[in-house]
This record gives sequence, C-alpha cells and structure tokens, in this order.
Amino acid sequence: MQAIFDLVRDVPDFPRPGIMFKDITPLLADPAAFAECIDALCAPWREQGIGAVCGIESRGFIFGAAMAQALSAGFVPLRKAGKLPPPVVGMDYGLEYGLDRLEIGTNALAPGERVIIVDDVLATGGTLDAARRLVERLGAEVVGASVAIELPGLNGRARWGGTAPLHALASY
Ligand code: PRP
Ligand code: MG
Repeated sequence: MQAIFDLVRDVPDFPRPGIMFKDITPLLADPAAFAECIDALCAPWREQGIGAVCGIESRGFIFGAAMAQALSAGFVPLRKAGKLPPPVVGMDYGLEYGLDRLEIGTNALAPGERVIIVDDVLATGGTLDAARRLVERLGAEVVGASVAIELPGLNGRARWGGTAPLHALASY
C-alpha cells in the first residue's frame, strides 16, 4: 500500500518525547489515496456477513465509518470514557503510563452479530485488544480487526488475544 508510505508523515517526539507520531491527515486529504486505502482495508471482509464495524475513538472513526459504508454494515463507535449516553458497558486497559477506558452502548450490538474492529494504528496493542474484549462482553462475534498502520517494533500483535485475524495495510 504505497499511498500510506507516501502520504503518512512521521512526526518525531509528538505528543511526547520519544514517540514517533504517524500523521495520517495528508492521506485523508487525498481522495484517491484514501479511497484506495478503504478499499484495501475492506477486502478481507467482503462477503463475510459483517453486521457492524466498531471504530475506536478517535482516529478509528475515520477509517471505520468509511469501511462500514463500503461493507453495507452499521457503524458502532467505541468511545473514550464519559462520552456515550447511558446505558454503557466499559473496559479499562493499561497504557504505557496509567489507565484508559473504552465504552460502548449496552444495546449497540446484537448477540452473535458478526463484527470487525477498526483503528488507525496498532502500537502496543492495548487499545485494540481492549476493544475486542469489550465487544465480546456484549456477546457479539469478533470476526477480526483491521488497522491502517502497524508498528511491529512495539509488538502489539502479541497482545491481540483473539484467534480472529488481525490485518494491517502497512508495517513500519
Ligand atoms: C492512538 C492510535 C490508536 C492507539 C494505539 O490513539 O490512534 O488508537 O493510540 O496505541 P496502542 O496500540 O499502544 O494502544 P490515541 O489514544 O492516541 O487517541 P486518538 O485516536 O484519539 O488520537
Ligand atoms: Mg486512537
């Protein structure tokens, strides 16, 4: 996926010293490249009976919403704590420093519904695996996950506890 390598900008030491930030905004601003990315992200999931795409706040919303449309599936947001109206179910997860929390509407997914989880970047993997556990807690079936960019040096794939496939468009 050459567009990702050409149009994602590396920003060293953002938002904190030692972090290499992947700026996806040039990719999003290029309609042909963005469309090509969405098409490639959707490819493994066509004809798989996907009922819902769960996008992770906030950058996962951008890719996830476009994928949901392309797959004729619903879009369900997994939001940071305190953003969704009740009733919600939450999942705490560890970051490099401290804790964070994702929430989903209690009735957002039907039991057994076939779901994929989408985010922009897989780094340490804590966010994506928390999303998986949260969706499974609602009784939906996690068919797999997709990210645009994987940072394999941080070994996030090892943290993905699912047996379902985890696809990445580009690895740095
Ligand atoms: C970034 C990125 C992923 C997550 C990956 O999100 O968008 O969601 O970190 O990190 P991990 O694999 O180590 O868990 P961030 O929490 O910075 O928020 P944002 O999407 O709202 O910018
Ligand atoms: Mg994020």
